[in-house]
Amino acid sequence: MTAMPGYAGRRARLAAAMQPGAVAIVPTAPEALRNGDSEYPYRHDSYFYYLTGFDEPEAVLVLAQGKAILFCRPRDPEREIWDGLRHGPDGAREAFGFDEAYAVGELDARMPGLLADASALYYASGKHAQVDAQLARWLDAVRQRARSGVTAPETVHNVRVLLDEMRLIKDDAEQALMRRAALVSSRAHERAMRATRTGMREYEIEAELLYEFRRNGAQSPAYTPIVASGPNACILHYNQNRRQVADGDLVLIDAGCELDGYASDITRTYPASGRFSAPQQALYELVLAAQAAAMAEARPGLPYSGMHDAALRVLAQGMVDLKLVPHASADDAIAERAHQQFYMHGTGHWLGMDVHDCGSYRDLQAEGRPSRALAPGMVLTVEPGIYVRPAQGVPEQYWNIGIRIEDDVLVTAGACDVLSDAPKLVADIEHLMQR
Ligand code: GLY
Ligand code: MN
Ligand code: MN
Repeated sequence: MTAMPGYAGRRARLAAAMQPGAVAIVPTAPEALRNGDSEYPYRHDSYFYYLTGFDEPEAVLVLAQGKAILFCRPRDPEREIWDGLRHGPDGAREAFGFDEAYAVGELDARMPGLLADASALYYASGKHAQVDAQLARWLDAVRQRARSGVTAPETVHNVRVLLDEMRLIKDDAEQALMRRAALVSSRAHERAMRATRTGMREYEIEAELLYEFRRNGAQSPAYTPIVASGPNACILHYNQNRRQVADGDLVLIDAGCELDGYASDITRTYPASGRFSAPQQALYELVLAAQAAAMAEARPGLPYSGMHDAALRVLAQGMVDLKLVPHASADDAIAERAHQQFYMHGTGHWLGMDVHDCGSYRDLQAEGRPSRALAPGMVLTVEPGIYVRPAQGVPEQYWNIGIRIEDDVLVTAGACDVLSDAPKLVADIEHLMQR
């Protein structure tokens, strides 16, 4: 993968946000063993990748003395026969636009010099044990030189605090990638719906999703897919995906691909038979109305929490109307938290390189830390749901129905831009399933 314009700009913005004369150290993720000598598929660190576009393991980005310096694996003809090509420092400097690049084995020799007399250090400690230990040694080496007047940086800021704010607002390149990821996932949901038949195993439906992700170039799912039929839809993080789909079941699929480092996160719920029953449809339309109410609040200047409040109001009114709760009004039900029996999660989250992306949900500068105002370039999910487990006092016709509808939206200057477009109207789903 070659450098995209933008990575150097992000490094420059980070450097400008740092204290003058400070040093930043951002390592990528370590490789991880799965079992025996087999490794998990390698996934870069999101912060590192955001600043570099470089996806090889064993790499560290250092911003120091006005330069962007990459430490990476050296070329190694023997290892490259087994594991594939490496850029090596010279190749990486050229392709990714770093000012300098060295072999990762040179860190111990070079870092004390780069840290000497730095005004402060920007580093996320506690995230990468090996680099934490190396850093302690580098700082010690600088302190050893105190008698010659050299000082070590004694203030450490969490570099992720600055990067979280940057990553929260997606630039044009990121928005384009996220739109593509959301569309690939939308097509996967459509394929899964179309393929569903009573009697199939949930994993057979999962296979349809994975097939569509991969054939469109997505590297992997962004998180473990949930394919939950019948009562399993009431288990929020169900992912065994092995039950046999029964006639009359709803199927809830929460699945999204990761494409070129960016996540999508979509949920659809549909009838295995191709037709919603009346109670299923009543609950489905309620969740859909809650989602529309939430999306209407996804506008710049409005608080993040407004979307959840709007969705909850609609859902609670529906719970009153359908006699899921004994309360006389939505206000009463919410005041007594009665809705939590059926709606126990939030209505969304930031989305980006990570499925639950970084960035504060509160305005940390303002008095009382209120919910943060939405701004153009933010991407988030809108995902209300309703989950009815069998319980006394709950009308039996709704038992074991679990529904969630989740889309990915970009906050713009006006109404939000819905990036995902898998079918979700009752008529559209039924039409698709009949074909
Ligand atoms: N798929 C994870 C979530 O919806 O938050
Ligand atoms: Mn989500
Ligand atoms: Mn989801």
